[in-house]
Amino acid sequence: MDTASAMVVEGFFDPATSTVSYLLLDTASRDCALIDSVLDYDPKSGRTRTESADRLLVRVAELGATVRWLLETHVHADHLSAAQYLKSRVGGSIAIGAQVRRVQDVFGRLFNIGHSIVASGSSFDRLLRDGETLPLGVLSIHAIHTPGHTPACMTYFCDDGRERVAFVGDTLFMPDYGTARCDFPGGDARALYASIARVLNLPPDTRLYTCHDYQPGGREVAYMSTVAEQRLANVHVRDGITEDSFIAMRNARDATLDMPALMLPSVQINMRAGQLPEPEDNGVRYLKIPLDAI
Ligand SMILES: [Fe+2]
Repeated sequence: MDTASAMVVEGFFDPATSTVSYLLLDTASRDCALIDSVLDYDPKSGRTRTESADRLLVRVAELGATVRWLLETHVHADHLSAAQYLKSRVGGSIAIGAQVRRVQDVFGRLFNIGHSIVASGSSFDRLLRDGETLPLGVLSIHAIHTPGHTPACMTYFCDDGRERVAFVGDTLFMPDYGTARCDFPGGDARALYASIARVLNLPPDTRLYTCHDYQPGGREVAYMSTVAEQRLANVHVRDGITEDSFIAMRNARDATLDMPALMLPSVQINMRAGQLPEPEDNGVRYLKIPLDAI
């Protein structure tokens, strides 16, 4: 009898930010992890909403699942994390790469809130180092440090004995879109190339789930590829593209990119694990905008 566990992955696409959140379920125990959740945010009104996160909660309830982990692949600069909201509703521990301290340091200075991050300790429940594992029922989630887009980026890998999956964050996009920018603080195209090489050394049938899909050419949303497909066709890093040519391409392209529209709000929230700033004495929470500082 085949006693291997089985895992299920479901993706949830947010068209407003082109982000894909994931649910990873161990079908034996019904323990699950929610990866890269989205707190909806309208920058014009400053209003947050929880529709995207509630979609995850509805599915968790339908599956009769227990949320063990709220995983972040990195401190996102293009959407707000719903990790704190989800934790308040269904529990689970919020985890991110340990190098998040570097991100907190840089942006803590920029927003002049480093002291409050230090004072409260990390807002994350678990800071992961390369090679650490997280239990998920009978499965294990392996944290692979894949810096480059940011210094704290983690890829989460899981093997149920039959198939393998990896949540690569912004390390790789779909083959027709390529890779993520490396020009944020602590970003490094050479480090990204090395990180991608680690991911592409996973077994060829490993299914890779990306954090974003920008639908190049207006094609349908897609967010799963295999290692073999990436090695064959990724427009930035398929087999045969050298490290130096990748770095030259990446740096030239990054020099043309604008700041993401939600960068300033996103980073303030996400480096604190999705915690909103404390309300002021009128009961209203505020975000900061640094002028002429970046
Ligand atoms: Fe990102």
